[in-house]
Amino acid sequence: MALSDFDLVLFGGSGDLAMRKLLPAMYARDVANDLPATARIICVGRADASQEEFLQTVETTSKPLIKSPAVTPAAWARFTARIVYVSLNATDASSYKPLVEALRKEDTITKVYYLATPPAIFAQICEALKENGLVTPNSRVVLEKPLGRDLASAKQINAEVGKVFEESQIYRIDHYLGKETVQNLLALRFGNILFEPLWRREWISDVQITIAEKLGVGNRMGYYDTSGALRDMLQNHLLQLLCIVAMEPPTSIAPDAVRDAKLQVLRSLKKFTPTTLAQNIVRGQYRAGHVDGKAVPSYRDEPDAPEHSRTETFVAMKAEIDTWRWAGVPFYLRTGKRMADGLAEIVVRFKQIPHSIFNQPTNSFQPNSLVIRLQPDEGLRMNLMAKTPGDGMRLKQAELELDFREQFKSPRMEAYERLLLDVLRGQLTLFMRGDELEAAWEWVEPILDNWESDDSYPLPYSSGTWGPAAASALIGRDGLQWREEVLPED
Ligand code: BG6
Repeated sequence: MALSDFDLVLFGGSGDLAMRKLLPAMYARDVANDLPATARIICVGRADASQEEFLQTVETTSKPLIKSPAVTPAAWARFTARIVYVSLNATDASSYKPLVEALRKEDTITKVYYLATPPAIFAQICEALKENGLVTPNSRVVLEKPLGRDLASAKQINAEVGKVFEESQIYRIDHYLGKETVQNLLALRFGNILFEPLWRREWISDVQITIAEKLGVGNRMGYYDTSGALRDMLQNHLLQLLCIVAMEPPTSIAPDAVRDAKLQVLRSLKKFTPTTLAQNIVRGQYRAGHVDGKAVPSYRDEPDAPEHSRTETFVAMKAEIDTWRWAGVPFYLRTGKRMADGLAEIVVRFKQIPHSIFNQPTNSFQPNSLVIRLQPDEGLRMNLMAKTPGDGMRLKQAELELDFREQFKSPRMEAYERLLLDVLRGQLTLFMRGDELEAAWEWVEPILDNWESDDSYPLPYSSGTWGPAAASALIGRDGLQWREEVLPED
């Protein structure tokens, strides 16, 4: 569907996200000829820079980060001609005149306000846009994470933004929902007859969802130390993946059909009590170690780290969903920084066969598993038992593999490219609704409260490992192992 003309306004326009992700994503879509000829990107910043100075910053900061498609002088010139820099104080409505003047007046031109700023000023920006007459039924607002730091602050954001924009105009970003394989998971579950009949407690033994990063906190200590892995990754990315795996079939791909189904999962998550929480959640913090053979420092020795920080850089937990479909099926969720490998994957493990007709005991059969790999190599792997060649009847595990890059040669799209296109098209399916956001915080809140009131420290783990040993013990208690413990060569 061709996009109609737009003015995309980036608040935080000279910030890290705009430079690293948003401008490169818009460049890629420009090169793909997705953007209308007169569409513009208005970058709003506080700095009193001229248009030329700002473009120079884009040239030196953003352009080198564009790897694909390769930047050509003609395409770059066409792209940068779309960029307009506007300097104003986002929290002062009386300073918005330059933005009012920069925006085109025709209401047929979609106005998108992308708030890549700290959430503490979302409300003031929305108010200022309204006061300056910049909000019409054809405007949209995009909210970047963190969308609150607990239930109360998330509710406050929803309420304040909701005073200015209708829910149908609000796009809450979780960039994991823009990843190719997440959508492929929808295709897998609801575009095939094979899996859905088996997608339930009778046939599935457990589900593991892992997002592991090799990177440390880098230069984001100011933000990260007040957040931690639970708020930064689990409350949003991991829970969204869990929702897509566990939701009931929506009636269509329409935004509310999908979001209703996801909400039902969030509301069915079994609540933790202080006792179940201590048994089922492990938090860790990285110490010095080696990642890819390179020595890396301890979290507390990273620049600006508080000496006695209790912030977790690793979380592993066993979650349960109280529904007929999922009762008793553990969902193991895990995320961490400075891990042994950088990957995001979902492993759905099926039950053991009930009886062996072969001359091999039942427990020598590896249960089937489906591995959905989000990154780095997007694809699906189905592990099956097969006969080994030759005489005799010996069965061994074999693998069916679907590598998306091999299979589909069409060019890839980064998550932000897809999500920006969806905002510009007015397609809300891949964005969180307000009640989903609140339900996710509501479930996470007892964990946050418990950790806050408990003065123990997260368990230490060496950088370059899979986290504290307690994470293996957590899953081991159920007689299971994390995938890399079963398949070390993988
Ligand atoms: C962000 C987190 O939301 O996701 C970061 O704030 C994290 O801490 C990042 O590094 C991971 O995203 P991706 O797409 O690189 O897996």
